[in-house]
Amino acid sequence: MRNGKKRGRSEPGSTKKPRNKYSDNPPDFASLASLYPSFKPFVFFSGGRARIDWTDYNATRELTRILLLHDHGVNWWIPDGQLCPTVPNRSNYIHWINDLLSSEVIQSLGGEVKGFDIGTGANCIYPLLGASLFGWSFVGSDFTAVALEWAEKNVKSNPHISDLIEIRDSKVLPQSSSVPESELTIHEEAEISATVQSINLVDDNQTYTEPAVLLGVVKENETFDFCMSNPPFFETFEESGLNPKTSCGGTPEEMVCNGGEQAFVSCIIEDSTVLRQRFRWYTSMLGKKANLKLLISKLWQVGVTIVKTTEFVQGQTSRWGLAWSFMPTARKIIAPPVVKKSVLSFMLEGIKRQYSAVDVLQSVEEFFKSCGASCKLNSSTFSVDIVASDDQCNSISKNGITDVDSVRSYGYDKQSLDGSSLQVPEDNLSFRILVFQQMPGTLLIKGSLQQKDSPLSGLFSVVFGCLEESLKSKFCR
Ligand SMILES: C[S@@+](CC[C@H](N)C(=O)[O-])C[C@H]1O[C@@H](n2cnc3c(N)ncnc32)[C@H](O)[C@@H]1O
Repeated sequence: MRNGKKRGRSEPGSTKKPRNKYSDNPPDFASLASLYPSFKPFVFFSGGRARIDWTDYNATRELTRILLLHDHGVNWWIPDGQLCPTVPNRSNYIHWINDLLSSEVIQSLGGEVKGFDIGTGANCIYPLLGASLFGWSFVGSDFTAVALEWAEKNVKSNPHISDLIEIRDSKVLPQSSSVPESELTIHEEAEISATVQSINLVDDNQTYTEPAVLLGVVKENETFDFCMSNPPFFETFEESGLNPKTSCGGTPEEMVCNGGEQAFVSCIIEDSTVLRQRFRWYTSMLGKKANLKLLISKLWQVGVTIVKTTEFVQGQTSRWGLAWSFMPTARKIIAPPVVKKSVLSFMLEGIKRQYSAVDVLQSVEEFFKSCGASCKLNSSTFSVDIVASDDQCNSISKNGITDVDSVRSYGYDKQSLDGSSLQVPEDNLSFRILVFQQMPGTLLIKGSLQQKDSPLSGLFSVVFGCLEESLKSKFCR
């Protein structure tokens, strides 16, 4: 144990997760001013409350300095103009990571927790908070001289946690690639070479092409429990517009990148498709909710096993957290919650060599026929149309596949779901399963409910979850 507060991973499922202390108790400026004379000049009273002028950079920086010292025992400073983090806001993200690590959603590992902060900044706030709150070790990367110099200074000013934090220049690529070559497939090699070639190129198509993000910065054989990032949110410095109600500083290098946060996070996603299980969780903060949807659909396309999102609200500011993983999900969460969605999908990855998309399609048909549902397989569209009764859906969800002898026909085989004349009894669930080839060894399975407002639509997600479990156990390595 290197410092008094050191602790490794929380017990999975532990309900005693320390929460963000600022959630219910905003900092008390009057009491802080009485304890820290350097803060006193920034505090004034208005409406019976002690306040600070949030548009004064010196005031917000001094508040951050004393909160880190008072609440976390951390010595900290940044030079004029560098992005000044608010401690409550950054604590939200750190606590969310702790929740992800403690959850049983993906396999837990033993040992100590190691994180990677992409773009740690001069302020180095996440490694300092993660190390002091939870005893996590960190690599914090950045590429500007000022960020690297001051992040290093902030680490050295805290000898009690300094051996937990390494600051790494993301411009200096290690000689060897991030992934041992022997472990690479041809596809991955091509992706790495595309990524490395894009470094430092300028691209007019709004893609992120500046210093490397993870690939090339993560060293060979390194593994991490998570990565995190508060990316440059904006495409232009003007757009960063700098909130007139606050002054947190921020230079163009800190606030802006080609393509904005969407391009930056897309780059993390691309790198994650190569590094895969070398990180348990990939995460990023987002400044715009609108970007979440597109990034989430990108994630499902690349075959992640799980996506999680959250909203961080602190005062008047909202931010969003996005997390994904390529680790196998724990069995108990494979059965999906009963939600009323009319289109659902999952990826079948790592399909055993002897199986093709046709085998999967036939297995979909068998799966539903075996519980008595009516099925029509269409091998030209790679789809199966299914009509299942309430009882048949329940038998799938309770028992899995039932005896083939109990098949009951609804005479549905002669009908087409495309035909507008199709009449489906109200107590039946009618849906189509489609099989798409994504890349060798990977299929996308999509299910769409035909009557979106069916009273049985809640059952659709349950039945679809059972199909997922069955296909994965039969076809995937
Ligand atoms: C919005 S600031 C975040 C700083 C700090 N993490 C925080 O939350 O206050 C973004 C940081 O990312 C850095 N950055 C941008 N592109 C990067 C890359 N490819 N690799 C590492 N750092 C990068 C910038 O220099 C800047 O310090």
